[in-house]
Amino acid sequence: MGLRWPGFRKVRARVCKRVGQRLRQLGLPDASAYRGYLQSHAEEWPWLETLCHITISRFYRDRGVFLHLEQKVLPELAAAALARGDVALRCWSAGCASGEEAYTLAFLWRSRLMPQFPRLDVEIIATDIDDDVLNRAGSACYSFSSIKDFPRDWFQQAFQQSSGRYCVRPEWREKVRFFRQDIRAAIPQGPFHLILCRNLVFTYFAEALQHEILQRLVDRLEIGGVLVIGAHESLPEGGGGLTRLPGCQGIYRRP
Ligand SMILES: C[S@@+](CC[C@H](N)C(=O)[O-])C[C@H]1O[C@@H](n2cnc3c(N)ncnc32)[C@H](O)[C@@H]1O
Repeated sequence: MGLRWPGFRKVRARVCKRVGQRLRQLGLPDASAYRGYLQSHAEEWPWLETLCHITISRFYRDRGVFLHLEQKVLPELAAAALARGDVALRCWSAGCASGEEAYTLAFLWRSRLMPQFPRLDVEIIATDIDDDVLNRAGSACYSFSSIKDFPRDWFQQAFQQSSGRYCVRPEWREKVRFFRQDIRAAIPQGPFHLILCRNLVFTYFAEALQHEILQRLVDRLEIGGVLVIGAHESLPEGGGGLTRLPGCQGIYRRP
């Protein structure tokens, strides 16, 4: 599957519990019996894959990163895009879970950047492999724990309450489009001014696959475009030729 066990260190118990339940469903006694089962039942691999999806996310996850995007990175990207004659800032949230990251970006754009750059539009593509999270992203309704870091002064404008859930208002959703895509097999066309690839490739994927995907991400970035990885992640050796930006962990520019 191209995954690496150390990446799962914080969520091992969760994955092991899911696999244990699957073993009981199949009437298998232990992990080595399951390994044998996988060898003779190719159709089981997608099941196992799904059991390994970690879909934790929230709005404004790693708040400092979004503040840095708002105050420094997005204004610079927007100014450069306008200078080049681009009509929209193209962004991609890779491994978007239930849309929390993509909607945070849409929110940042609409509330903070749009007033400064009224002639520039924004397009946000968000991809994930997991149908369940994509369905949740489409409905755009969340529990309070997902939005607890959202700026209080914008809360009413961005969300409406419905049956105890907090739903992103339609006008805040319109720039975000979701697609099902396995990042190991395909990536959107691009080129992008900004790619967010956080808490997926550089945590859970094996190193060889990290190198491969990093190269593809770099190819999809505009010259001067920015890649953001998770606050606790690092790029594989060589870093894909990207330059780390000062002032915040995990933000890189394509020179
Ligand atoms: C931990 S979440 C990260 C969400 C968000 N990027 C963040 O940092 O808050 C990882 C997401 O990657 C998705 N994912 C796992 N394998 C994938 C793959 N091969 N291609 C695309 N998405 C994948 C999972 O379904 C999950 O929603």
